[in-house]
Amino acid sequence: MKKSMTLTDNRTGKSYEFPILEGTRGPGAVDMRSLYKETGLFSYDPGFTSTASCKSKITFIDGEKGELLYRGIPIEELASKHSYLEVCYLLLEGELPTERQALELDLEFRHRAFLPEGLVKLFDLVPDNAHPMSIMSSGVTALSAFYYEHLKLESDDDYREMAHRIIAKMPTLAAFAYRHSIGAKLIYPDIDRSFSENFLYMLRAYPGGKLHLDPGGHREIRKIEIEALDTIFTLHADHEQNASTAVVRSVASTGAHPYVAISSGISALWGRAHGGANESVIEQLKMIGSVENVDKYIARAKDPNDPFRLMGFGHRVYKNFDPRARILKQLQDQLRDELDLDSELMRIAQRIEEIALHDDYFVQRKLYPNIDFYSGIILTALGLPRSMFTPIFVIGRTVGWVTQWIEFKKNTEEAKIARPRQLYVGP
Ligand code: SDX
Repeated sequence: MKKSMTLTDNRTGKSYEFPILEGTRGPGAVDMRSLYKETGLFSYDPGFTSTASCKSKITFIDGEKGELLYRGIPIEELASKHSYLEVCYLLLEGELPTERQALELDLEFRHRAFLPEGLVKLFDLVPDNAHPMSIMSSGVTALSAFYYEHLKLESDDDYREMAHRIIAKMPTLAAFAYRHSIGAKLIYPDIDRSFSENFLYMLRAYPGGKLHLDPGGHREIRKIEIEALDTIFTLHADHEQNASTAVVRSVASTGAHPYVAISSGISALWGRAHGGANESVIEQLKMIGSVENVDKYIARAKDPNDPFRLMGFGHRVYKNFDPRARILKQLQDQLRDELDLDSELMRIAQRIEEIALHDDYFVQRKLYPNIDFYSGIILTALGLPRSMFTPIFVIGRTVGWVTQWIEFKKNTEEAKIARPRQLYVGP
């Protein structure tokens, strides 16, 4: 029997039937494409709380069960058993790489990590105090000028080269943006270092490529730091149709250059309601200042007349827990001994979590810690500056954005220009 939904307009008594589309997992969708043509009415859904904008095979989220799958593989398995590089291959190609394929991708990323020298000169024009996120979005837009040929992609290899290039260059752009913001000489990528290690190296090294001796007496970048950052990149790699990915697909629908779509995603992610929350969480924990002050701020977060919100809490989809937050919490516990996690900040965060997980206001609204609640504490312990937290989210998410961009382009049945309508309430 054909599965459908009937809508009746009680102004005219007329009924309309719309097919129900079923996916392989998760909620089905009512195919509303003919709604306006048949009924003369629009559907109304600001914020797209009940709207599926596309079909996708990339990432699946079950908000009730707190499940996250990349190409059908649970995030817990990927974060514990696979490198971020292998996850990039999985997202782009649809399956995990063989050892040979992973090695080839690793080498390609190392060679493609360098930025065109003309782009490096762009940094001379940017004010020192520019936030790295503004440099990243403008830098990626500038890359569309250096690689203009990607406006016209034909073969799978064209798509692959465009994708590998932007993924490999993002850490370098982020590291250069940071070095510029502290007035330090740029450190170029070192092709003897892997993706995540190279990023830490480009942030930390002194001119001439020397690494400093850290307080713990370590000179080289430690394996535990590389693995922690690699896991963080994996946890941020993709997340279905979140706000910035929706922007990337919308820009893809106009036929603009792929790198300006990614740049639009970076700009959307910067907002504190989205990826910018990880930087705001640490700012907020420092503002709260001590465990004693937590109750006062919880009261503010609950007060409908107070715009104050707990950063790192709540999620449009996850209504029980964010599986990524759980993995980061475990990582935090592992790192506690190895790295000097800021214990005061952690105590404040734990106090907030304790209260919020039992307080009616949060429980009723199903507000739980999301990925941003924990990532900031770990990134701080890795010696990463707060201004780099959202750029790190960008580095992890670039593979998701570019994979979603490619899926949009290849799904010719749906590749229509994004052009929503409105309910006019004007004069
Ligand atoms: C990310 O979409 C994604 O997948 C995003 C992301 C990804 O990987 O791409 O997961 C990454 O962006 C995580 C979210 C990071 N943002 C924050 O931590 C900012 C704080 N959180 C919120 O602003 C909010 O929870 C959102 C934006 C995350 C979700 O917003 P919704 O789904 O639109 O929910 P809402 O704003 O309608 O809030 C529902 C209720 C409201 O109360 P009432 O009006 O019903 O009384 O919950 C309240 C809100 O006031 N509420 C909060 C709150 N978040 C929601 N109250 C206090 N503190 C909060 N953090």
